Amino acid sequence: MDPHFVDLNSAYDFEKIKKRLAKKLDAHRYEHSIGVAYTAAALAMAHDEDMIKAYTAGLLHDCAKCLDEEERERACRKYKVELTEMEKEFPFLIHSKLGAVLAKEKYGIEDPEILSSIRYHTTGKPEMTKLEAIIFSADFIEPNRKPLQCLPPIRKIIYTDLDKAVYLILKQTLIHLEHKGQPVDENSQLAIEYYKRFA
Ligand SMILES: [Fe+2]
Ligand SMILES: [Fe+2]
Repeated sequence: MDPHFVDLNSAYDFEKIKKRLAKKLDAHRYEHSIGVAYTAAALAMAHDEDMIKAYTAGLLHDCAKCLDEEERERACRKYKVELTEMEKEFPFLIHSKLGAVLAKEKYGIEDPEILSSIRYHTTGKPEMTKLEAIIFSADFIEPNRKPLQCLPPIRKIIYTDLDKAVYLILKQTLIHLEHKGQPVDENSQLAIEYYKRFA
């Protein structure tokens, strides 16, 4: 079925998803999630990707972001989420991996492509699928983001050159981490190695 002809409200019960999400996220994170959902849908339109999957993944990508430490640890134990040393040291990274688990367990999303794009939305990875690249990028460019200098040129090219936009976002992320004195996750390192061919 052509995703451009699917009624957005026929695929999943988005009202129910949004209601639950609004309870689990703070107001700022909820607005950001709506922004990512619509940005991802627009990118899907431009790049012949499934609009519904992009909207759903965008909506849920940060569903585990506002858990407190205790809730996070409990959820990781319950769903047997194994953490890397890097995730133990920088727990904010866990929300991607745990988000994919909660999207399935709590929001009923079974689609492996949606779950994987939630899983890798923070770090990226080499050779992302179109949907993974869309969610990774929509997270960075959605309209509620703080106006950074790097954003206008990325927003301008992303509808025609998604790979180059991914490269520019990874580069910007690395600059930001360096500035904060934080190490770079292995997936992001491998991703920038791969995406620099699109620079
Ligand atoms: Fe996130
Ligand atoms: Fe996000």
